[in-house]
Amino acid sequence: MKSIPLPGQFGVEFFDLDVNEMSDFELDRVATAQNNDGVVFIRDQNLDCEQHIAFAQRWGDIVTNRFFERVEEYPQIAIVRKEPKHQTVVGETWHTDHSYDAEPARGSILYAREVPKMGGDTLFANMYMAYDALSDGLKNTLKQISAVHSSAHVFSTEAVQANEHEDDRFHSGEQAVQRSIHPVVIQHPISGRKALYVNPDFTTHFAGWTEQESQPLLEYLYQHSTQDQFIIRFSWSPGTIAFWDNRAVMHKAINDYPNERRLMHRITLSGCALQGI
Ligand code: SIN
Repeated sequence: MKSIPLPGQFGVEFFDLDVNEMSDFELDRVATAQNNDGVVFIRDQNLDCEQHIAFAQRWGDIVTNRFFERVEEYPQIAIVRKEPKHQTVVGETWHTDHSYDAEPARGSILYAREVPKMGGDTLFANMYMAYDALSDGLKNTLKQISAVHSSAHVFSTEAVQANEHEDDRFHSGEQAVQRSIHPVVIQHPISGRKALYVNPDFTTHFAGWTEQESQPLLEYLYQHSTQDQFIIRFSWSPGTIAFWDNRAVMHKAINDYPNERRLMHRITLSGCALQGI
């Protein structure tokens, strides 16, 4: 097994590793890299759905996504797809998977089945580094506040009908009722590091503040977190796995491959309630 750091300040890419045959030692190395960097990539895999599920289960329990279309017979696997006719792509705004849940997802394991000839990269923003770079004054303010995260404005029937990816949804808009409050600065449950935990897709406002009052500071935090020095860009090849920790990074899919198809399978791992600092 070989590993190299990605260009930028975080992210590790593994080669010469078959996740179907991964030893405990190899698993430990991948876990350590993910714990340090928030996201790891494993190239050149050849997984069927059962092998994808078996790989995920080595890390913990799977949480089935309520809203995405699922692979037939494998409801644990959500389909993330762009067809040539689509103008938009799933996840093209910065976000953190499942942050609307009371116990938000620990991590996501995205497996590339079909990728466009060029483009279709994914960006990751390191929320540890973003937090560390804030002033002491703002850190002190943020540690006292929590934020509301909701699924309704993204996945309700009304929201989905306005979205060209309606076909790819599980038509479960009536289940989009999650509304959870999490600290704005969390202590990561595994690494113990402090991270910002707000995201443009699902965070609606600070608890006890109006949306209007919250917007300027949220906007500042998003701009701050997505500066060049805190992000990496990953270029996919078919058979690549990305495995990220939603409590350490945000992510965003790039929409730059018009008239082409991209098909990814995503499994999400269950998490825990998040603690502030
Ligand atoms: C996602 O938002 O989970 C998918 C990201 C991607 O398709 O690159």
